Amino acid sequence: MRFGLSSALCATLAVGVSALPFPRPAAPSGLLERAGNSRTTVTDLEIGGDLRGLSPGSTRYLRREDLLALPQVTYTVSDDSNFTGPTEISGVLLEDLLPALAKAPDTDMVVAVCDDQYHAHYPHSYVSVHHPLLVLKINGQTSERWPKDAEGLGLDIGPYLISHAEFKPAFKMLSHEDQAQIPWGVIRLEFRNEAALLEAIAPSPRFANDTAVQNGYRIAQQNCLRCHNSGPEGGLQAHHPWLVLAAWATASPEHFAKYVRFPKAENPNAQMHPNPAYDDATLRALTAYFQSFLSPSQEQR
Ligand code: HEC
Repeated sequence: MRFGLSSALCATLAVGVSALPFPRPAAPSGLLERAGNSRTTVTDLEIGGDLRGLSPGSTRYLRREDLLALPQVTYTVSDDSNFTGPTEISGVLLEDLLPALAKAPDTDMVVAVCDDQYHAHYPHSYVSVHHPLLVLKINGQTSERWPKDAEGLGLDIGPYLISHAEFKPAFKMLSHEDQAQIPWGVIRLEFRNEAALLEAIAPSPRFANDTAVQNGYRIAQQNCLRCHNSGPEGGLQAHHPWLVLAAWATASPEHFAKYVRFPKAENPNAQMHPNPAYDDATLRALTAYFQSFLSPSQEQR
């Protein structure tokens, strides 16, 4: 599981950090030039997408030492459910990595890919409000000495994870509240154009004025896309792609809605996390959004 189920949003402010330490020294150039063409160790960070000066889809590998040589920021966090108590983290802000690695100016989204193919998406709007941090050290230690996962499954949470100084939800769409994107087991960062990526899950223009469809779209971007893929975009953890969800929403809207709110009630073996806070309007919006992919397009004739 790549996020906490508890909504530990009652953040105690990080000790010793009242504001982000701006201005920071600029990230040195040459980081991408030092990247390797193949993985040499498990702590290499794979990077891909639209990398500066490389053809789209190129893959490179950054050594941890090179990341540690970048300007580091340090916070003590107390609202991240991946940690059992206040924890000191340090690393590199995604907003510092973007200019150093990404093709300017269209590459405005970072996708963190985990070893289990969970994807966390960081659009520009998220990065500029929440300042996510690629964590390189926890309590001064590199990933070999990190604590295991907070759920007690004994899993390694490295080689990288993403956290924040503190997280305050920045938007609410129906009963979906902006949720901290705090994946662990991160092995790859992708630098992407947000609009191009979202084309994979954008509803047809026929629904431009359909509020439920548009609201469902906004929620699905932050929630469902982490585990469910549409073609090459989105996480592969669920193995139920977008059109399968569309088929459920269309053929059995009740099952679909119940599954979203509380998967285990529909399937005792469900691995999907529940969304107990979603009210009926939120479930209706998600259902309408997924139905839109299979809705016949009479108006187009
Ligand atoms: C953390 C990962 C994760 C997220 C986020 C997630 N799902 Fe899932 N989903 C799964 C997995 C894994 C399955 C496969 C069955 C299972 O283990 O629950 C699944 C299965 C489903 C199913 C299939 C039910 C069936 O009967 O086959 C539906 C419907 C569904 N998800 C809808 C959604 C919607 C809608 C969202 C966004 C609101 C969402 N999921 C977000 C992991 C996720």
